[in-house]
Amino acid sequence: MQTLFITGGAGFIGSALVRLLIAESDYRLVNIDKLTYAGNLESLAAVADDPRHLFSRTDICDRAALDALFSRHHPAGVIHLAAESHVDRSIHGPGDFIQTNIVGTYTLLEASRAYWSGLAEEEKRGFRFHHVSTDEVFGSLGETGQFSETTAYDPRSPYSASKAASDHLVRAWHHTYGLPVLATNCSNNYGPYHFPEKLIPLMLLNALDGKPLPIYGKGDNVRDWLYVEDHARALKRVFEGGRVGETYCIGGNAERTNMQVVDTLCELLDRFRPRADGQSYRTQKTFVADRPGHDRRYAIDAGKLKTELDWSPRESFASGLEKTVRWYLDHPDWVSHVRSGEYQTWLERNYAERRTA
Ligand code: NAD
Ligand code: TYD
Repeated sequence: MQTLFITGGAGFIGSALVRLLIAESDYRLVNIDKLTYAGNLESLAAVADDPRHLFSRTDICDRAALDALFSRHHPAGVIHLAAESHVDRSIHGPGDFIQTNIVGTYTLLEASRAYWSGLAEEEKRGFRFHHVSTDEVFGSLGETGQFSETTAYDPRSPYSASKAASDHLVRAWHHTYGLPVLATNCSNNYGPYHFPEKLIPLMLLNALDGKPLPIYGKGDNVRDWLYVEDHARALKRVFEGGRVGETYCIGGNAERTNMQVVDTLCELLDRFRPRADGQSYRTQKTFVADRPGHDRRYAIDAGKLKTELDWSPRESFASGLEKTVRWYLDHPDWVSHVRSGEYQTWLERNYAERRTA
């Protein structure tokens, strides 16, 4: 049985990947996560008792702790998702983004390189360091065109600049030291267990609470939306079959303006949980000041991933969003713990000592 390190496995995408790998592979996972505000072990309740899932509350900037985990668990690869991930937070406080996304990735690369250098030839050849990144490193598109693996980097927010820096480090560790890396750049994800600071869960929960739905600017910025479980499947596919040193762009082929996203959400809520006064949730839409430096449009050409590894998303935006809305309506406990902050004590209350790596 091979062991993999998953960093950031208590976050939105990382927890989807952990759930997928436990359900659909034989890997033993060591989930390495600092549990910032975005880390939530309650999102891993489904796998908490699985003997193939071990958890370590570790900061990826802590080299000694990483070295100890490498020598204890002898992994066959690392899938690196740990990051500070919210653009608005990066505008208000970029420091944590520089620390985790750049210094943390550097520290993890160095710990991985030290471990990998000491492996026997065959294990060394099989080892993979898979870096999970975003399409935001490519900057902002006009009305037409799509990002691809060959698009020049042009990050414009502290978040995207810190992710771009980490992408460059990963490629440098491959070219300079021969570390067998893979990189993926994905478009906006949505789905279950999404922290309600990002557009879709924030709008959904504000709507149910009777609060305003704050649309930045005119609501005409465009994002390319991908259901999170489709992203997790793409990561598994690239980790297992991607060519070393290559980058793969991942996207949902589902471009929507923010206004279209909010309107579709409101329609779904009008159907599944109509307002008591009979009015549409759309009446809660409110325009607010735009985000500084707000990227206009993102869109991904995922043709390389389709051609080389036969991946395409299973969910359309309509089917994925309907699943997402139903999930939030069906999981009031997860929602209320996230909103009250109670999820952060879940570790102490519920996480079995024997599952700690
Ligand atoms: P998230 O914010 O939900 O989760 C991040 C996780 O990393 C959390 O569990 C957090 O506790 C952990 N973490 C943060 N700092 C850490 C540190 N110093 N050491 C160890 N763990 C730490 O993020 P997400 O949306 O799941 O994104 C995961 C990755 O995917 C990120 O690298 C992000 O840049 C990338 N990505 C996200 C999207 C998206 O739409 N959300 C799209 C493309 C790429
Ligand atoms: P977000 O979910 O923060 O993802 P990203 O900035 O990484 O794309 O935002 C998605 C889009 O929604 C983005 O164009 C900003 C916009 N937005 C709003 O209009 N209102 C909000 O309250 C939030 C959080 C985002």
